[in-house]
Amino acid sequence: MSKQFAWAALALAGSVSLAGAEEVKLGYALAEDSHYGAGARAFEETLTAELGDAFTVRHYPSSGLGGEREVIEGLQIGTVQATIASSGTLSNFVPDVGVFDIPFLFRDLDHARTVLDGEIGQDMLAKFSETGTHALAWGEQGFRHITNNRGAVASPADMAGLKIRTMENPVHLKAFEALGAAPTPMAWPEVIPALEQGAIDGQENPLSVIVSAKLDEVQQYLTLDGHVYSPAIVMVSGQLWESLDDDQKAAFEAAGDAAVVAMRDYVDQVEAEGVATLKERGMEVNELSAEDKAAFQEQLADVYTDYEAQFGKELMDRIIATE
Ligand code: PAF
Repeated sequence: MSKQFAWAALALAGSVSLAGAEEVKLGYALAEDSHYGAGARAFEETLTAELGDAFTVRHYPSSGLGGEREVIEGLQIGTVQATIASSGTLSNFVPDVGVFDIPFLFRDLDHARTVLDGEIGQDMLAKFSETGTHALAWGEQGFRHITNNRGAVASPADMAGLKIRTMENPVHLKAFEALGAAPTPMAWPEVIPALEQGAIDGQENPLSVIVSAKLDEVQQYLTLDGHVYSPAIVMVSGQLWESLDDDQKAAFEAAGDAAVVAMRDYVDQVEAEGVATLKERGMEVNELSAEDKAAFQEQLADVYTDYEAQFGKELMDRIIATE
């Protein structure tokens, strides 16, 4: 059996006890030095501080357990115990959560954090208990921006026919179609090879991902359009959650909260320094004015009507009105 196959078999075998400690396999898509890595470390540290050696957190960074959809399916069947994941595939599990993926819905990080930490965000987390998972908290990635190799993007006209990878997310897909691009939904592990081979021109992700995944090595142009906020969820498997007593549940909740603080700190730092880092690494950066961004937003007017029909205008208005 190859070493790689042996690891994969072990990873799929579900939770195992290590000398009395229950193992928590924690899978995430990005490297240990990313915002997810920071969140995962804080999760582990808090769990250990609260519960000693009752649980051993084993990290599987860089999609070590597969794409985000596979990992969430792993939570459902109990072969994976915990994850930090984007909202990419979440609406396949809880359709209502897609409201957070609507472009230009959140004004800034403070607005998004207030909504997600408040009643709307917490009600949404509760819906995951019907999916064989348990959602602990909303972390984040930041606002998503467009990168590509075809040419500088400064207006919606520059998006025409752009072969851009989107997450496997119907809300995002609809928006990029409305912008005139040629969007291709794709799981994250396939994205860098597809960019290297030229199968796609570009992708979109927040600075946290562009910097930590070193997308500057495969992408020339960055447009700071901030078209959509990108939440990240901290989740555990339903089986694990149901097996915990009240004190252990409180410890997992605290670990989820600590992961969120660490992720948000990382995002704050990369939002402040990431653009300079990417320029130093050779990316050509387009900073859009408020009018430039408004042109992208106007192009989405028709799909906004569809989003209102799908998610409810009242909910969207409540989010927009949140101070
Ligand atoms: O683009 C995505 O799929 C996500 O933002 C990523 C990079 C997997 C992080 O969750």
